[in-house]
Amino acid sequence: MIKRIGVLTGGGDCPGLNPVIRAVVRKAISLGWEVVGIRNGWKGLLDNDSLELGVYAVSGILHKGGTILGTSRTNPYKEQGGVKLAKENFKKLKVDALIAIGGEDTLGVANKLYQDGLKVVGVPKTIDNDVSCTDYTFGFDTAVNIATEAIDRLHTTAESHHRIMVVEVMGRHAGWIAVHAGIAGGADIVLIPELEIDLEEICGLLKTRHSRGKDFSIVVVAEGAKFGKGVVVQEEAKDAFGHVRLGGIGHILGNEIEKKTGYETRVTVLGHIQRGGSPTAFDRVLGTRFGIKAVELIKEGKFGHMVSLRGNEIKSAPIAEAVGTLKTVDMRLYDIAKIFFG
Ligand code: F6P
Repeated sequence: MIKRIGVLTGGGDCPGLNPVIRAVVRKAISLGWEVVGIRNGWKGLLDNDSLELGVYAVSGILHKGGTILGTSRTNPYKEQGGVKLAKENFKKLKVDALIAIGGEDTLGVANKLYQDGLKVVGVPKTIDNDVSCTDYTFGFDTAVNIATEAIDRLHTTAESHHRIMVVEVMGRHAGWIAVHAGIAGGADIVLIPELEIDLEEICGLLKTRHSRGKDFSIVVVAEGAKFGKGVVVQEEAKDAFGHVRLGGIGHILGNEIEKKTGYETRVTVLGHIQRGGSPTAFDRVLGTRFGIKAVELIKEGKFGHMVSLRGNEIKSAPIAEAVGTLKTVDMRLYDIAKIFFG
C-alpha cells in the first residue's frame, strides 16, 4: 500500500516543471498520501537532501519557470557507490515510490533504478522534444514561442538593414525547436541536425530570394546541426551523461554565408532564454495532466513506466522504450518548412 511518495526534477530545467510538481502534490494529498521533494535531481537522493511538500509549499508556483526543487545533471551510476546510496536513502526517506521528472538522461537513470528494484515512474520533460513515446514534452511549446517571438523581432531589423539574420536555437541533436519556430516565424531557411548542411544550396536559395527583390532573410539553425567536421561544440568535456556542450554553429555559418553571398549578416544565439521564464498555457496544462497521471501510475502499480501524450490523450509507456532511441524530426514536417525556403 502506498502512503508516501518522492518527487525529483533532473537534467536541464524547463518551463512546466512546477505545474507538474504542484499537480503531483495535490493529487497525492487527495489520495491521503504524503509527498517528499528531493532537491537537485539524483544528487539530492545521494545527499539525502529533501523537503516535505504540502499544499502550501506548492501554492503560487504554477506560473513560475524553473523548478522549486532545483536540478542537477548528477548520474548515480557514475558515482562511486552511488546506486547503493540511492537505495539506502530511498529507504531512509520512507517513500514507497518515486516520480522522476526529466529528459532522456534522468529517465535513463529512473529505468535502471527500477530494474535494480526501486519503484519509480517517469515524467518526460525537455524543451528539445526529443523523448520517444510521447508526441510532446512540456517546455517545448514555451521554447518555440520564445524563439518565434525572437524571429519576429529579428525580421523587422533584418528588413530595415537589408541583412541576413542567422538565429541559433537549442534542441541538442534534434531539430524540433528549429522546425517549429522556423515555420511559425516564417524563416527562409531552417537547418537541423537530422540533415547535413549544404552551404552551396543555402547560399543559392538566399541569392534567388534576394534577386526576387527580398533583400533580407532569416536563417534558423539548430545548435546540433552538422557543418563541415560535424557538430560545433562550446566545450569538449563531457558531462556525467556523456554530453558535450553544443553551440557556436550560428557564428560559423553566419561568417560563411556573408563570405559566399556578400550580403551583410548578423547572428543571434538565443541560448538559455529559451528555457527560462513562465510556461505557456499549453505547457501548464500538459504539465498538470502529466503530474496527475504520474500519481495514477503509482496507484496502479505501473512502475518502470512514464506518462506520455498521444494525440490529446494522456497515456503511459515503458521508460525503457522511451529512452532507447532519440525522437528526431518528422521529415514530413521539415518538408512543410522547406516549401517556404528561399
Ligand atoms: O536539453 C535541454 C538543453 O537546453 C539543450 O537544448 C541544450 O543543448 C542543453 O540543454 C544545455 O545544457 P546546459 O544547461 O548544460 O547549458
